[in-house]
Amino acid sequence: MRVCVCATPEQATARVVARIARTVRENPRAVLGLATGGTMEPVYRGLIEAHRAGLGFAGVTSFNLDEYVGLDPAHPQSYHSYMRRHFFDHVDIPADRRFLPCGDCDPAEAAAIFEARLEQHGPVDLQLLGLGHNGHIGFNEPGSSLGSLTREKTLTRRTRDANARFFRPGEVPPQSAITMGIATIMRARSIVLLALGAAKAEAVAEVVEGPVTAFCPGSALQYHRDVSVILDEGAAKDLRLVEHYREAELLMSRRAS
Ligand code: F6R
Repeated sequence: MRVCVCATPEQATARVVARIARTVRENPRAVLGLATGGTMEPVYRGLIEAHRAGLGFAGVTSFNLDEYVGLDPAHPQSYHSYMRRHFFDHVDIPADRRFLPCGDCDPAEAAAIFEARLEQHGPVDLQLLGLGHNGHIGFNEPGSSLGSLTREKTLTRRTRDANARFFRPGEVPPQSAITMGIATIMRARSIVLLALGAAKAEAVAEVVEGPVTAFCPGSALQYHRDVSVILDEGAAKDLRLVEHYREAELLMSRRAS
C-alpha cells in the first residue's frame, strides 16, 4: 500500500484527479471504476475542468461501484442521477459505456448482469474508492465476505444515517444497495482510495494498519498489489506509522523528479 498524506483536502483531491487524468491520457481506452458520495464531488469537478482543458473521455468505459435498490435511474438520489449531475453530463464518455447496477430491477439479476458486463469490458484499470466511517468500500458493510462478488447488501443504520443528508427531509433512504463485491473490486489493476477529514481517521487506521478482517471490509485492500491511499491530515491522524509514510512519499517524489 502506498499511503500519501496531503496537507489539505484540496491537495489530496487534486492528487486523485491527476492520477485519473494520467490514466486516461496514457490509455484513452481505459476502464475506470467510479464511486459516489460527498468525497467524490470535488474529484468530478476537477475531472470536468481537465476535460474542458482538453482531456478526452470518448474512449473510456466506466463502472460504478453501487446503486440503491428500489430507486429508478431518474430518482434524484439514485447514483445514476448523481453520476449524470456530477460527471456524465459534463464529459464525453459514451452513454452505452457507462455501467451502473440497475436499482429498480430484480437485485439478483441486476448483479449477475453487472458482473457479466465487467467480464466483457474489464478488468477495471483504475478503481476509485471512498471509505465509509465503518470501513466499508462500495457498500460492502462490515461482515461482507472478502470473496464477495456484486450482490445486494443491507445497509447498516450508520450508513443510512450518514447518507440521509442526501435525501429530502422525511424521505427514508433505501435499506439496501447493489454493490460490487470485495473480490470484484480486488480484480481492478490499480486502486485509489480517497478519504478526507478526521471523521474517517479511525476507519483509515483500520484499513491501513489493522488486521485484515471482514469486520473492516476496506482492510482487504492490504492484499492488493497496487493500492494508493490518499489522505488529508485529518484522515491520517490515527496512523501509527504516519512519519514513515511521509518519508516514503518524499523518497518516491524525489525519484520521480
Ligand atoms: C459510494 C460508495 C461509498 C462511499 C462512502 C463514503 O459509491 O461506494 O463507499 O464512498 O460511503 O461516502 P462519503 O464520501 O459521502 O463520505
